[in-house]
Amino acid sequence: MKPYVYIARPIPEQVEAYIAEHCDYKIWRQEDEKVPTDILYKELQQVDGAFLTGYQVNDELLSHAERLKVVSISSVGYDNYDTEALKRHGVIATHTPYVLDETVADLLFALILSGSRRIAELHEYVKAGKWGTEPDSALFSQDVHHATLGIIGMGRIGEKIVRRARLGFEMEILYHNRSSRPRLEEQYEAKKVELDELLQQADVVVVMVPLTEETRHFIGKRELDLMKPTALLVNGARGSVIDEPALVEALQQKKIHGAALDVFEQEPLPQDHPLLSLENVTLTPHIGSATAKTREGMAMRAAENLVAGVTGGKPRDVIKELREK
Ligand code: DGY
Repeated sequence: MKPYVYIARPIPEQVEAYIAEHCDYKIWRQEDEKVPTDILYKELQQVDGAFLTGYQVNDELLSHAERLKVVSISSVGYDNYDTEALKRHGVIATHTPYVLDETVADLLFALILSGSRRIAELHEYVKAGKWGTEPDSALFSQDVHHATLGIIGMGRIGEKIVRRARLGFEMEILYHNRSSRPRLEEQYEAKKVELDELLQQADVVVVMVPLTEETRHFIGKRELDLMKPTALLVNGARGSVIDEPALVEALQQKKIHGAALDVFEQEPLPQDHPLLSLENVTLTPHIGSATAKTREGMAMRAAENLVAGVTGGKPRDVIKELREK
């Protein structure tokens, strides 16, 4: 008998076909709506594995899934997992690192360029017919080339951003990370510094730390106050790593040059959110990994993890908190 899995969102055809080869399954096919909680809990009662991108996996959910061996998501960030609850229930959890690194780094670089050169803002300016109504100096912005980039959280994606920054734009690189990255220091002349030094010196601050209890509101008023008035803040990690009200205040008061954000404390961003009324922002709808090719690669990798977990194999991408030592 094949193992039984539940897939809580539509996935590409070939990924579904791969799962079908190895498992019996049920799938939620509605693009625009998540599985309602009562239905989800019912579906999970008999499953060996579940594909749960976008759902909170906590004690409550796990207590409705007594046979569950493995839960898989197609994203690199896994703040939706309660890792302690997973340990208590003996459930393996996987994510999808590697496949999206270059794609996310591309988006982060687009945000750096847009925020520094005010692309999003000036695009609106042209569309509003304002071109020619003000002196040229009203359109001035900040250079990216040869500027100083400060990366908070130097993981795989951070490294891809650094490569672009150093080799393409000849930027100086500062980073703040728990561990040192000697190879990057040698290859890109990156310099490891304390957080405050990074904030004080960087022209572009990029936040890439995963969201955990320690990193919630890691960047707040104190940190924003340390940044240069000409600096740009870029967030490609999770919205809650930044204290959003503090950021809005800093932007309103023009304490920093601007912010370029792909992630927010509440997603989708509510229509009345104060960020929407600011000019010095570039806002994208959490699209770091959103190219068809990368999303398909992520879904396939998540499916491989799921199938390995329910067929007695070893999933490649078990989250680090649950890896066997
Ligand atoms: C992820 O996969 O965690 C990223 O947010 C992609 O955009």
